[in-house]
Amino acid sequence: MSTSSGDGLMVTRVRAELSQPRVSQMGEFITPNHLFFIRDHFVNRPALSDDEWRLHLTGAGVQDTAVSLAYLKSLPSKSLTVTLECAGNGGYGRGADRQQHHMRTMVGTAVWRGVPVAALFEDEIPPEVTEFVFRGYDGGEDPDEPVPIDCYTRSIPRAKVLDVDTLLVYQMNGEPLPREHGFPVRLIVPGWYGMDSVKWLRSIEARTTPLGHFYDDHKYRTQWTDAGLQAGRRVREMGVKSLVLSPSNGQRILLGDIPISGLAWAGRNDVTSVYISFDGGQSWQPTELGDEVRPYSWRAWSLTHKADEVGPLDFVVRAVDSAGRAQPMEALPARNYEANWVQRVRVFVVAGLEP
Ligand code: MTE
Repeated sequence: MSTSSGDGLMVTRVRAELSQPRVSQMGEFITPNHLFFIRDHFVNRPALSDDEWRLHLTGAGVQDTAVSLAYLKSLPSKSLTVTLECAGNGGYGRGADRQQHHMRTMVGTAVWRGVPVAALFEDEIPPEVTEFVFRGYDGGEDPDEPVPIDCYTRSIPRAKVLDVDTLLVYQMNGEPLPREHGFPVRLIVPGWYGMDSVKWLRSIEARTTPLGHFYDDHKYRTQWTDAGLQAGRRVREMGVKSLVLSPSNGQRILLGDIPISGLAWAGRNDVTSVYISFDGGQSWQPTELGDEVRPYSWRAWSLTHKADEVGPLDFVVRAVDSAGRAQPMEALPARNYEANWVQRVRVFVVAGLEP
């Protein structure tokens, strides 16, 4: 199902909210809050009060504590600009989700302000703690699981949790975190796909053994089994990927100079080059990269192509990052997550545009 709501996000599924901007709304380096994609797992979105909200710290070597928002805000904070992308962005969804997944716009960049998770644990975390489990205040039916789920849950390895850039965030682009993005506090795990950035945070549990639960074992894995479950390795670090903002696929364009532009991102790595090929990948031209460069954030790119022939014009865009990773050339037929292959666009060059 696809419904339109004026100038705001397109609601592409209403079972649990899944909304995303149109490509034409995406030119800015910082995504305005009202155009930032929304990905909820459950129909009931928590409505939490900032006074009553508590974050419970529990587990191995941790003294049980309930942290208030006022306390969190009293700690030294920092802000980071981070591009967040849904692991399913551009992949092959099932049923009604399929169409919107191809749109590649479940990605946005915001300035997040918060407190490093590590700052909450005054006493040293015992060396036996290998992972932390983050739980949200939301739960209910997940279409991939027969039994209702208590709460959204993600297990994250110790080193990533205690990294100085992993934040408990209460502000998004200078405003209190909007309800749909996790009010009052969410986790932001820079460089990892969005599923680990748990919204409406309820608790953090330190563990010495893996918890083993639906969201770690059967969801957000790289392969699908015949039984419809997911297997393979866990989806975590973002791949290198690019998005063409203009022109759009199928667009009719006048003969002459054609400006081509878009965005590219690579998780915790930097985007070092974005190339375009007009001959199916035999030769590549470097695009010009935008001046705005921030760690964990996307980078703008552009190139002007001189079209001197009418007819279809095909091009392919491929980004490369500072770790030497390049976008895969071929789309994988049955891959749900990490769909970071190159984008292919066909436009039609015409001698004149009809009114
Ligand atoms: N956290 C909770 N508690 N519940 C959720 O459904 N969805 C996750 C993640 N955190 C989710 C969550 C997924 S899959 C993504 S991609 C991001 O939140 C989306 O964040 P956004 O809706 O703010 O863009």
